[in-house]
Amino acid sequence: MASEKSSPLAGRHILLGITGSIAAYKAAMLCRLLKREGAEVQVVMTALAKQFITPLTMATLSRRPILVEFFDPENGAWNSHVSLGEWADCYLIAPATANTLAKMAQGVADNLLLTTYLSARCPVMVAPAMDLDMYAHYTTQRNLAELAAHGVSIVEPGSGELASGLEGKGRMAEPEEIVEALKTHFTEKKKPLTGRHFVVTAGATIEPIDPVRYITNHSSGKMGYAIADELARAGARVTLVSGRTALATPVGVERVDVLTAEEMYQAAKQAFAEADGAVMCAAVADYTPMEVATSKIKKTDEEEGMTLRLKRTKDIAAELGAAKGERLLVGFALETDNEQAHAEQKLVKKNFDFVVLNSLRDAGAGFRGDTNKVTFVDCKGQEALPLMSKQEVARRIVEKIASLLAK
Ligand code: CTP
Repeated sequence: MASEKSSPLAGRHILLGITGSIAAYKAAMLCRLLKREGAEVQVVMTALAKQFITPLTMATLSRRPILVEFFDPENGAWNSHVSLGEWADCYLIAPATANTLAKMAQGVADNLLLTTYLSARCPVMVAPAMDLDMYAHYTTQRNLAELAAHGVSIVEPGSGELASGLEGKGRMAEPEEIVEALKTHFTEKKKPLTGRHFVVTAGATIEPIDPVRYITNHSSGKMGYAIADELARAGARVTLVSGRTALATPVGVERVDVLTAEEMYQAAKQAFAEADGAVMCAAVADYTPMEVATSKIKKTDEEEGMTLRLKRTKDIAAELGAAKGERLLVGFALETDNEQAHAEQKLVKKNFDFVVLNSLRDAGAGFRGDTNKVTFVDCKGQEALPLMSKQEVARRIVEKIASLLAK
């Protein structure tokens, strides 16, 4: 264990918010660990949290009276949420229930813990705790993404046995992990893309032919999802416009699901309007059927077979490129031959700041796999990277974006 003096938490003011979850018992250990690291801890609880852990326990461990109400019912003394927010170096809400997360995302202020959140100027960290279905519910995920987009750090829950008897993801992170997350928070450098908003397109589009058939491609979405993840880790707000994939949404990323190239265009254009840039990673169909049959097309015995008439879709990247102004635009080029020349053409034609080129001739590059081998191409030249994981490629792309924005 770190001694008080060397701990990044020594002397820090941690406001510990406790909400009404069975995991509230872990807040006692959390408080003890924080004190051992030399932090000052002030506890604020919701009324329901008192049913799970007593104010006496928390007051004894934190060595301060705990706060629940807006004022002391005995003597009328006002518990100022504004001064609590000012006092804190970090507001840690652990456990954070689905209910409290929803209220935070909506700006509801019906208890002291929430009014303090609304007035806090310090960084805020939450450790969600709930049943697996509540955690997986789209509303909870949407609320978490909303909070993350506004700078709230999330200490992800773990998987295991839950109070309901079910097994799954939703258990509050262990107190030791939360303390580690806080330490990292106080030691790490400011994230390079904090305050920036990026759009990422990912995955394959689907162009319907009739109610049962469609045109698509082999894209798994892995590269785009890794980029969205790395952008979020670098502090950016991320809108991921995604074709159909089986991948889980990266933590803190806002995901908009689309099917066709036209839907992807509309969603990307809307998100790009208020963004600082976009990474165009989707494998977009270049053609879509002229007409979509409303009922299943039946086969015939005609000799000449069947002809499907296709029309061009919008080139989403080119459309955003034409309107990009000061914004940053990164594109991909997946080629099988004349790679360099094709990438350079796309750089100019779509007004990209740089192109991430991958050649299907390289082993380990391209669709579905977990690795990629890419070359960055911009107006100054090219930089070939070795074969690496898609996550590492994503990290390199995000580093390049951050360095371009820093100029
Ligand atoms: N792109 C897009 N919208 C399209 C087609 C492509 O946004 N309708 C984007 C891709 O996401 C990628 C870049 O444009 O970032 C290049 O895609 P690619 O498929 O390599 O090139 P195309 O422009 O479709 O050209 P071609 O198929 O002729 O190689």
